[in-house]
Amino acid sequence: MDVSDLVDTTTGRQKRTIYSNEELYKQELERIFGRCWLFLVHTSQIPKAGDYFRTFMGEDDVIVIRQKDGSIKAFLNSCTHRGNRICRADRGNAKAFTCNYHGWSFAPDGSLAGVPLENEAYFGELDRSKLGLVQVTHVAEYKGLVFGCFDPDAPSLEDYLGDAKFFLDVWLDAMPGGTSLLGETQKMELGSNWKLPVENVCGDGYHLGWAHAGAMSAVQSMDLAGLSVGNSSTNLEGGLSVAGMNGHMALTSLDGISGYAFYPEPKPMMDYLEANRPTAIERLGKVRGEQLWGSQINITIFPNLQFLPGLNWFRVYHPKGPGKLEQWTWAMVENDMPDEMQAAILDNQCLTFGLAGLFDNDDGDNLAACTEQSRGWRTAQMDVFTNMALGRSGPRDGFPGDIAAGLVSEHNQRYFYRRWQEHMQAESWAEVPTYNINSLSVEEPENA
Ligand code: FES
Ligand code: FE
Repeated sequence: MDVSDLVDTTTGRQKRTIYSNEELYKQELERIFGRCWLFLVHTSQIPKAGDYFRTFMGEDDVIVIRQKDGSIKAFLNSCTHRGNRICRADRGNAKAFTCNYHGWSFAPDGSLAGVPLENEAYFGELDRSKLGLVQVTHVAEYKGLVFGCFDPDAPSLEDYLGDAKFFLDVWLDAMPGGTSLLGETQKMELGSNWKLPVENVCGDGYHLGWAHAGAMSAVQSMDLAGLSVGNSSTNLEGGLSVAGMNGHMALTSLDGISGYAFYPEPKPMMDYLEANRPTAIERLGKVRGEQLWGSQINITIFPNLQFLPGLNWFRVYHPKGPGKLEQWTWAMVENDMPDEMQAAILDNQCLTFGLAGLFDNDDGDNLAACTEQSRGWRTAQMDVFTNMALGRSGPRDGFPGDIAAGLVSEHNQRYFYRRWQEHMQAESWAEVPTYNINSLSVEEPENA
């Protein structure tokens, strides 16, 4: 389907049909979810051989499993006999996966290990070597984050992430002990098109002071030495909207502490930041160590991964049709953080962006209604707009990307829809442009 008129990034306009059209959705499964690198699991979630984690790539059910040699493989969760699901659990440790239907069993390396009545029913003519589980074409790790990709022609994961690594490292590499995701997967079904929460978190600072006004006032008591959530919402010029990094985005404050302003007891967090700031600066350099580590940063890896160092929630969206998605969330921590601090982070993540979280409830209702109101015959023909701060972006010293000043802007959303359109128009990866605008070689640590 031709998408050239559905998005116009020069004026900041989208046709609402992109949130409801079935044909476009099928094209997204093929050209976006079938082509891009997709987040599968954090290495902390499958530490031992045989540990597995079940997830989705688009609508494809996938098992990600740690091998005996420590490597990680991923397979379609579908029996090669008649297609049944071979794994029903969300996670665990397995020596084999046995199909409930006729009993075929598969080893952790995906090979077909057992077939009931093999000689009697197949007369010894079954070629097991051709009937192993279908393997996800590429699996690769970036500092603890494991991604998979179905497209044999995709760029390497490092090239795919491009300059977004500058921001990823603020969480993944600030401290020597590495990172983990905490808790069981918090799954929520939402009646929203998958693109709406992604564009909301990637760039929409505009809704903070309005949609979240109630939640904001509920946490107003959490003032800390002049910093309060209320101040953050009015001080929206104090951040950056960063895009133009291969379709990935960051929306960031620059104060080095605002991510922790929502905590009921922020002092231990502030003490941790202060004690470890020199380490972060040594490892990440001055710009990121001083201005980004500890700040609230919304990071988006196209198409469906988002996480917020500082507020410490990590989330992937799985599409379930044009008007439905599953949102999976975990709490993210640095392994160097004391146990009590990690527990406080998990608590706070549940309070703010968990299943009954104050902020998620505000967003969920708005996003579901935006989807619902784009389904009608007449409304589907209407436009919606992301035209705020058009033409007001450029480079900034010390940062990669095309940058619009401030947190209230629709700059990042325009880049998100641009990337969507680029993928939807391209027949293959060869036609997908690569761009890391105003790329900089990542700042060398000063003390290295
Ligand atoms: Fe799995 Fe038949 S469908 S063994
Ligand atoms: Fe929100």
